[in-house]
Amino acid sequence: MKVLVTGAAGYIGGTFCHKLLSYGHEVLGIDNYTNSDKKVSEFLLNNFNSYSFHKIDIAKEDNSLDEVFKNHKGDIDCVVHFAALKAVGESESKPVQYWENNIISTLNLIKTMKSHDMRKLIFSSSATVYGNNANQPLIESESLSPISCYGSTKIANEYLLNDVAKAGDIDVVMLRYFNPVGAHSECIIYDDPYASPNNLMPRVIRVALGIEKQMYIWGNDYSTKDGTGARDYIHIEDLVEGHIAAIDFVKTFSGSTALNLGTGNSLTVLELIKKFENINGIKIPISFEKRRKGDVAECYADPAKAQKILNWKAKKTLEEMCKSSWKPFKK
Ligand code: NAD
Ligand code: UFG
Repeated sequence: MKVLVTGAAGYIGGTFCHKLLSYGHEVLGIDNYTNSDKKVSEFLLNNFNSYSFHKIDIAKEDNSLDEVFKNHKGDIDCVVHFAALKAVGESESKPVQYWENNIISTLNLIKTMKSHDMRKLIFSSSATVYGNNANQPLIESESLSPISCYGSTKIANEYLLNDVAKAGDIDVVMLRYFNPVGAHSECIIYDDPYASPNNLMPRVIRVALGIEKQMYIWGNDYSTKDGTGARDYIHIEDLVEGHIAAIDFVKTFSGSTALNLGTGNSLTVLELIKKFENINGIKIPISFEKRRKGDVAECYADPAKAQKILNWKAKKTLEEMCKSSWKPFKK
């Protein structure tokens, strides 16, 4: 099978490319390195003959994107679209950049797919589309009301893809990820703690590495069991396996569907930090701060639909997630 992957140098896209390549598939990776660097693509190019990489900004260089499709006409089996800007906090201060990048990328991609008769697509959506929802765990049919600009761009993408699928031009599985953590099994690809991360786990790693003195916890007055935000953390390896199952599914599927990729477990910030400390034997000093703009109190999945449709289930434990997140940095 040959798969075209956008956002191929990123945390999830890179891990996914490695998994596909190690299963013997052919991968065409695309990235513009806005939020990544050459490291992952160079590793994949050096280790797999079936990998090729193109540095393209898919929001701006639609001609180059078209060239890639032209050169592989008729033999791309599926497109997996990870490329996006993804930081909730940053999106609030850079709305134009987020709307431009996250919408135009998808528009360019589906226009190019259509002009080359390619119709099978997997899209990276997010649990952020559910916003501040009291009905937990979240099922796919819940109302969508994001509270950040980033979330709005993900919903807009879902609406766009639904419309294009309704017109019969594409078949798309929109995967709503909950909170991916952990590193790739060979520790090659991880959520980079050196790249000013906003997410919880790479920030815990920064404290564990001594880059930061303490962990700032954004809010301890939420209506959760200990007042800190609660999320559904899922191991990156489980998440990428969900994509492989989705590719299999979309081959014979017509239309559009959204699926939650989560474990179904809700965990607070304090619980996650405690588990990280216990498993890795590292103390993480904390300090409680004001709530972060755009954050919800709780967000966890009902993963039943994905389990049934994809015959997929997240298997890794919280212990494995905490161990794996620290493994690339352990001396
Ligand atoms: P990431 O930033 O590590 O990877 C995204 C990659 O896309 C980066 O390498 C970036 O350079 C590239 N990119 C961005 N805009 C591009 C463009 N116009 N042209 C080409 N490349 C472009 O992020 P990630 O964590 O791997 O996330 C992948 C996808 O999953 C994103 O769509 C994100 O919104 C979604 N998602 C992530 C999470 C999470 O917690 N990591 C949760 C839910 C959804
Ligand atoms: N948090 C802290 N301190 C930090 C970082 C995070 O207390 O330094 C807290 C947040 O306030 C939140 C929890 O940890 O309560 C998780 O925050 P993350 O930033 O790790 O994750 P989010 O749930 O905000 O967002 C992530 C991705 C989005 C994705 C969403 C899906 O960043 O792209 O998960 O649920 F859409």
